[in-house]
Amino acid sequence: MLIPKVENLKVQNLDATIQPGRTSIPEILQERLQIEYLLNPDAPSAIDLNSAQDVIAGLSQSHKALSPRYFYDDRGSELFEAICELPEYYLTRTETALLADIAGAVVAQVAPTQLVELGSGASRKTRLLLDALVARGPGAWYVPIDVSGGALHASAARLREAYPGLGVHGIVADFEPGPPPLPPAARRLVAYLGSSIGNFVPPADARLLRGLAARLHAGDALLLGVDLVKGEDVMRAAYDDAAGVTAEFNRNVLRVINRLLDADFDPAAFDHVARWDAATASIEMHLRARRAHRVHLAALDLSVAFAAGETIHTETSRKFTRASVTALLAASAFRLARWDEAPGGGFALALATLEGRP
Ligand code: AVJ
Repeated sequence: MLIPKVENLKVQNLDATIQPGRTSIPEILQERLQIEYLLNPDAPSAIDLNSAQDVIAGLSQSHKALSPRYFYDDRGSELFEAICELPEYYLTRTETALLADIAGAVVAQVAPTQLVELGSGASRKTRLLLDALVARGPGAWYVPIDVSGGALHASAARLREAYPGLGVHGIVADFEPGPPPLPPAARRLVAYLGSSIGNFVPPADARLLRGLAARLHAGDALLLGVDLVKGEDVMRAAYDDAAGVTAEFNRNVLRVINRLLDADFDPAAFDHVARWDAATASIEMHLRARRAHRVHLAALDLSVAFAAGETIHTETSRKFTRASVTALLAASAFRLARWDEAPGGGFALALATLEGRP
């Protein structure tokens, strides 16, 4: 459902409040800048009461779990941006360096007129692709899709300003099990960076890529950033930093649930846990109750008991190999067209082209 309501939405960088027909964003920037809301902008993120079932199910099972999508209210998105700057979190800087090396070649190979980005966040790495895209000539569009309206708005306005020839059509939406309909384009390059695909536990990962493929045409391409399996200590430290930013990010999910479902989680009653699970090749994040206690979710009339030491599984970050990426692509309609690893290893960008509809 399209909810075009944009009152009181703060565009942080321009310090403006957008109101229909009355806005302090310069007219010149508004042209070719569109934000489409497929989520309620009043909800903290991808979350509205439709998600209640998901939360009930997650907290009722014997191994409690919450979906990682609940991390990303505006504060969660900011905390994630802070994670990307941490010395332990090598993913962002490794991928950025790699992308700087190959963005030109990838864009030349695909020759896109539209760059779609899934989970665009602050769109910082994207600039490397946008530089190559706009260099190809006028008329290009950038279509960022993110569950965080705040992050999307700020970056869309910034990019529109930085790239005068570029159209920006942002979509505030969840993209599981696939992205929403995309604006038409002759050729698309879809970027899904940061190894975020690793949040989708098989077979949800292949389902997401099939959902994406259903929105694309033969010849369109996907640039997938994937963190590679490496030494366990390096991987685990990236999710358990010394400054405690990841711990705060992990606990933020409880604040989101508190606000959304009128719950009384005490974030301080939970420890942050990050562990490597060799069987699934993934880092798992959990929140572990420090003591036995009960939490009440008033909006659901649900009371949840925690034993001391009991955990809520909040995120799986799967790590990949070239073989596992090839297998994932084979389960959708994409075919690996190029594979680039960061100079020091440890992270890869897979370019895959769509052969035909799945
Ligand atoms: C945005 C999903 C790629 O899994 O590495 C960072 C999220 N979680 N630190 C990741 C995250 C903890 C991140 N992704």
